[in-house]
Amino acid sequence: MNLLEIMRASPVIPVIAIDDIRHAVPMAQALVEGGIRVLEVTLRTRHGLAAIRAIAEQVPQAILGVGTLTRPEDFAAARDAGAVFGVSPGLTRDLVQAARASGLPLLPGVMTPSEVLAAREAGFFQLKLFPAVPAGGVGMLNAIAGPLPDVLFCPTGGISQETAPQFLACKNVACVGGSWLTPRELLAANDWEGVRALATAAAGLR
Ligand code: 3PG
Repeated sequence: MNLLEIMRASPVIPVIAIDDIRHAVPMAQALVEGGIRVLEVTLRTRHGLAAIRAIAEQVPQAILGVGTLTRPEDFAAARDAGAVFGVSPGLTRDLVQAARASGLPLLPGVMTPSEVLAAREAGFFQLKLFPAVPAGGVGMLNAIAGPLPDVLFCPTGGISQETAPQFLACKNVACVGGSWLTPRELLAANDWEGVRALATAAAGLR
């Protein structure tokens, strides 16, 4: 699957932080059962890679990505663990090289028009607007669509179930990202019914 197909497969990409490795598989199962197959497991906790490995092995319906890619060495490690795409909060020359070397399709983060131009020059046309709400939200996306009509965004950062429709209505938005599908309290409580209900609601956004 290429990045465009992945972005179009789901209205919302849950941004996941795993504090307890035992949560990874039941959480992923709950999301998939709710209709959300594209998952972004971040490397911001020490269980990130192990969670990716476990989900890749045990929840094959998931389209599994690795998030918070900030170091070049993380790309190959995440690919080897089973991730099929990557997300980074920004883009540097080293990250571009690591993405190419690993073969992992990358959704890089941008926040300004100049960063969009730099990402486009590096060959990236599907971008994460991050952090989306502080960057200007829907107003920013609409404003950028005029001069930069050939890029598609996954805005992430500050979006909720309630505000997602405004973002999804933008012509340059393919999907949104957010952590609201996997709140730490629900994971800590092993509340997989709760996660599934949030996923069902999110899947219904489109
Ligand atoms: C992130 O990478 O932390 C995402 O932007 C999630 O943001 P949110 O918690 O505001 O959804």
